[in-house]
Amino acid sequence: MPSVDRMDPRALEVARACKGFLDEEEGMRLHDLARECAPIGPIVEIGSYCGKSSVYVGAGTKAGGGTLLCVDHHRGNEEQQPGELYHDPDLFDPEQGAMDSLRIIRRTLRDAGLEDTALLLVSSSTAAARLVTVPLGMVFIDGGHSFEAAQTDYERWAGKVAHGGILAIHDLFPNPDEGGQAPITIYRQAIASELFDELPTTKTLGVLRRR
Ligand SMILES: C[S@@+](CC[C@H](N)C(=O)[O-])C[C@H]1O[C@@H](n2cnc3c(N)ncnc32)[C@H](O)[C@@H]1O
Repeated sequence: MPSVDRMDPRALEVARACKGFLDEEEGMRLHDLARECAPIGPIVEIGSYCGKSSVYVGAGTKAGGGTLLCVDHHRGNEEQQPGELYHDPDLFDPEQGAMDSLRIIRRTLRDAGLEDTALLLVSSSTAAARLVTVPLGMVFIDGGHSFEAAQTDYERWAGKVAHGGILAIHDLFPNPDEGGQAPITIYRQAIASELFDELPTTKTLGVLRRR
């Protein structure tokens, strides 16, 4: 069965139409991992933006009977600010003088039928990590892409993954000419920690299982 047939069709349609930075094959892998890990513990996503990845992860979480926490301050990361490469003027609120993707993700999750599964935590990754003390079924890191931001996400969240749970990291580029090196740096740290076993990657999505 093609993997897309395993995802709720309404959610899949919403995910496909949503603005964002996730390939469908990566999204389906996240969907399947979330469904598998939901019985282990809550799922956390760092960096939700307009909700594209949240819908794939959320639909899998729902199918597995779990809950997803979508952590994002919704002010955009470094390369999404005005004048930068990935800036989207539709997401800039001139009254606040700031990026604001919150109103979009609210609609995305409603359209996908995920409001009771994917809970929004409008917060920095660091502040959210102080609140979450239960062992997690899966952590998906796709937040800030600076070395400092990625390192913070790794240090605050990787240790919260339950035994048997998954740490997934987006945007791994082994060739520095193809993309930033912060995500792959924390991915390599996780392997070096010997706390995780490497599973096959899907495109730029790294997947590690906690021992
Ligand atoms: C690359 S986008 C996420 C893309 C999303 N996963 C998708 O599928 O389209 C990164 C997101 O991380 C958020 N972000 C960056 N640094 C953050 C931090 N320190 N705490 C919380 N959110 C952060 C930004 O606001 C932005 O929405």
